[in-house]
Amino acid sequence: ASGDPASGEKVFRKCKACHAVGEDAKNKVGPTLNGIMGAAAGANPDFKYSDALMTMAADGLVWTEEEMAAFLKKPKEYMPKTKMSFAGLRKDDDIADVIAYLATFN
Ligand code: HEM
Repeated sequence: ASGDPASGEKVFRKCKACHAVGEDAKNKVGPTLNGIMGAAAGANPDFKYSDALMTMAADGLVWTEEEMAAFLKKPKEYMPKTKMSFAGLRKDDDIADVIAYLATFN
C-alpha cells in the first residue's frame, strides 16, 4: 500500500508490450489489466489463459497485493508453466510502485 503510482507508470513500460490499461485498453499478448487489483485471477472472458493460470484461478487465486507481488517478482516460480514470458521485477520498490499504478485503474 506504500507504492508510488507515478513511478509505477514508468515501471509499467516493461509490461506494455503485452498489457494495456485505461479506457481504450484491448487484450494484447496478455490480458487488459483494468480492475486487476483485488480481482479473481483469470477472469477476463475474452482472453485465453494458460492451464497453469486457470488451475490457480480455480483454486481461488485473487490478486491481492501480496499475491501480485509474489507473481511479479518471479512469474515462472510463482506460476510454473504460465505463458507470461517475463523474467520478473527485481526491485521490491518497483513492484510496490507498479501495484500502486495498477490500483489507479480500479
Ligand atoms: C498475465 C501483470 C508483463 C504477458 C498477467 C496477469 C497479471 C500480469 C496480473 C494475470 C491477469 C489475470 O489474472 O487476468 C503483468 C505486469 C507486468 C507484466 C504488471 C510487468 C511488470 C508481461 C509481459 C508479457 C506478459 C512483458 C509478455 C511478454 C502475459 C500473459 C499472461 C499474463 C501472456 C497470461 C498468463 C497465463 O495465462 O499463464 N500479467 N504482466 N506480461 N501476462 Fe503479464
